[in-house]
Amino acid sequence: MSTMRPLDRFLTLAGAEVAAVASRMTANEAVRSAGLRVADLLATPPEPTQPLPPHRLPVCDQLDAAYAEMRSDLVAAFKALEPQLAWRVRAVSNATPDFAAGHASARVLDPTGLEQRGGLVSGISLVAPGVTYPEHDHPPEEIYLVLSGGEWWQEGGAWHAPGPGGIVHNPPGIRHAMRGTDVPLLAIWFLLPG
Ligand SMILES: [Fe+2]
Repeated sequence: MSTMRPLDRFLTLAGAEVAAVASRMTANEAVRSAGLRVADLLATPPEPTQPLPPHRLPVCDQLDAAYAEMRSDLVAAFKALEPQLAWRVRAVSNATPDFAAGHASARVLDPTGLEQRGGLVSGISLVAPGVTYPEHDHPPEEIYLVLSGGEWWQEGGAWHAPGPGGIVHNPPGIRHAMRGTDVPLLAIWFLLPG
């Protein structure tokens, strides 16, 4: 295991977690099949990308508080990967003023990320305590694997905290949002190919 690349080690753990949670969701076929599809696509051969250079932002100081919520094997894998990430602030028009300094995201599987696999687009989101990643939508279906705390919302539902190891499923085009609570939100998201 120790000779695995940090990206492989982290995505192997994340894919296993998504598959395990999804396979238990026998009462919700949409979540089950989306999660299992993410895991299958993660196992496809990687294709090269043109990665952005690694870049850290001040909000990344929140990572230690996120790690305190996480399983130790995931922390070790994520810590090894983190120096390769190009953390960026997203311009989101409906955000509150605390968003720019209270959020960062980094592409993992993407043409500008570390690798591509099976048409998945994936990234890491970090949201500081008390900060909201505002309501948005997008055509691709989405699965989040929750790494640390945080709360999620989608149209027609209430805010809820899946907790570390939980998954969130956003059907295509649904309005959704997330926020840090008393602990930062750290999660990896996957947009499924159509
Ligand atoms: Fe989203």
